[in-house]
Amino acid sequence: MASSILDKIDKDKLPKHIAVIMDGNGRWAKERFGRNRMFGHAKGVKAVRETTEACAELGIPYLTLYAFSTENWGRPVEEVGALMDLLIKTIQVETKQLYENNIRLNAIGNIESLPKKCYDGLIEAMNKTKDNQHMTLTLALSYSARWEITEATKRIAQDVQSGKLEVDSINEQLINNYLSTWNIPDPDLLIRTSGEQRISNYLLWQIAYSELYFTPKYWPEFNKEEFYKAIYDYQQRERRYGKVLQ
Ligand code: IPE
Ligand code: IPE
Ligand code: MG
Repeated sequence: MASSILDKIDKDKLPKHIAVIMDGNGRWAKERFGRNRMFGHAKGVKAVRETTEACAELGIPYLTLYAFSTENWGRPVEEVGALMDLLIKTIQVETKQLYENNIRLNAIGNIESLPKKCYDGLIEAMNKTKDNQHMTLTLALSYSARWEITEATKRIAQDVQSGKLEVDSINEQLINNYLSTWNIPDPDLLIRTSGEQRISNYLLWQIAYSELYFTPKYWPEFNKEEFYKAIYDYQQRERRYGKVLQ
């Protein structure tokens, strides 16, 4: 078998949390096959499965996938509808695998804005896997970082107003506790596919010191090998957090 970059990965220096902006489904379908955008979204499910599997196999405890942004609601209704149908179907099909692999499904974002069938399916899958310990797979759905920070700010203000919270006790840790990622460490590595080099309103607070990795591969072309490349690249970096390393 051809040697994989997996062999070069230092298993003692793995990131704890990887966040991914899964981008390029539409362009992949159009450029490679002359097909519509939905064809690309459907093919993207395989890359989700491979990435999740690779994480679980390596023992990376947190994976957070950007699946649908607040701004994505502005796409044509047919595409939004088809994406929601794909989400329902994928959750139905994949939950069993997640459960058997001891993976907890989690969601961040304004999930109450999802169609009822989608919301119900998501809650059911999250409930079913809630005690799983090996890994947490978080889907960012109807998510944007500015939405998240706005919601956190409102709840902090309410707690100050009701006397539950002192203004002086507001610090970075407290703000963190009001975010939807309160129980997840900050991402060590953020991967974006499709060649775009932007953040698109994803985890703005949490990626303050994340390492960024951009690949020209479109999301449906992403696979375990590409994922290992990203981790290997990450392991060559020196994380300084503003300090000077000796
Ligand atoms: C990412 O692929 C999936 C979602 C944003 C839902 P895109 O749909 O953004 O595909 P491109 O970037 O237009 O090619
Ligand atoms: C970001 O991709 C959102 C998701 C991957 C869900 P977009 O395709 O929506 O972002 P832009 O429009 O290229 O910034
Ligand atoms: Mg895109």
